[in-house]
Amino acid sequence: MKKLIILGGPGAGKGTQAQRLCHHQQIPLISIGDLLREAIAAQTTLGQVAHPYVEKGELVPDQTMIQFVRQRLLESDVNRGWLMEGYPRTAFQAEELDFLLDDLGQKLDWAIYLQVSEEVSMNRCFQRSRADDDPKIVQRRIELFYERTIPILEYYEYRQRLLTIDGAKEVTQVQQQILQQLTFE
Ligand code: AP5
Repeated sequence: MKKLIILGGPGAGKGTQAQRLCHHQQIPLISIGDLLREAIAAQTTLGQVAHPYVEKGELVPDQTMIQFVRQRLLESDVNRGWLMEGYPRTAFQAEELDFLLDDLGQKLDWAIYLQVSEEVSMNRCFQRSRADDDPKIVQRRIELFYERTIPILEYYEYRQRLLTIDGAKEVTQVQQQILQQLTFE
């Protein structure tokens, strides 16, 4: 049973690589950003809570995200493996994910970190037209990534679960690097 997470700043290629990897490994994708955008569009309870944060590029509060991820990992389609993209993003989320996996009798295989410079992040986001790709909002998403998410890389490195990948390369080269390093017990 494969359990993977993909971490990285805005525009690092998390969504792009997650889709390819899920196809390659035949496991379901849990894209937290996409799920939040769908919830906002459908105006669900989660969407209503998340909307004011996502539109400003702020992080949705930990308690909301932790509860949401717990419910998602209890669904039957992910009981034989999964890849989660965009989660965890804070130390608290990382710790709570480990507690949750313990409860579920699961263990994370790898945290895949797609490393790109701030300039690459900016350029890739500016080439898209998502509502939160406005320059000021992208800047805020990048700031939060450095403040809140970079520190959790150490958490996975210490547990020897971190794969650091050069995300600035071309899409298929990034995928190859991931596949070369990915091993399962
Ligand atoms: P989310 O949607 O996850 O946004 P993000 O982390 O800022 O990441 P992006 O979606 O911008 O980029 P990506 O890394 O997926 O890159 P992509 O493959 O799309 O989250 C949105 C918001 O939700 C957050 O701001 C926050 O408010 C909230 N949220 C989400 N998770 C949360 C959490 N855990 N806790 C609290 N709040 C949370 O690629 C980007 C572009 O680059 C594409 O156009 C693509 O075609 C291109 N590209 C990709 N790879 C390459 C490559 N190798 N070479 C050239 N171009 C490439």
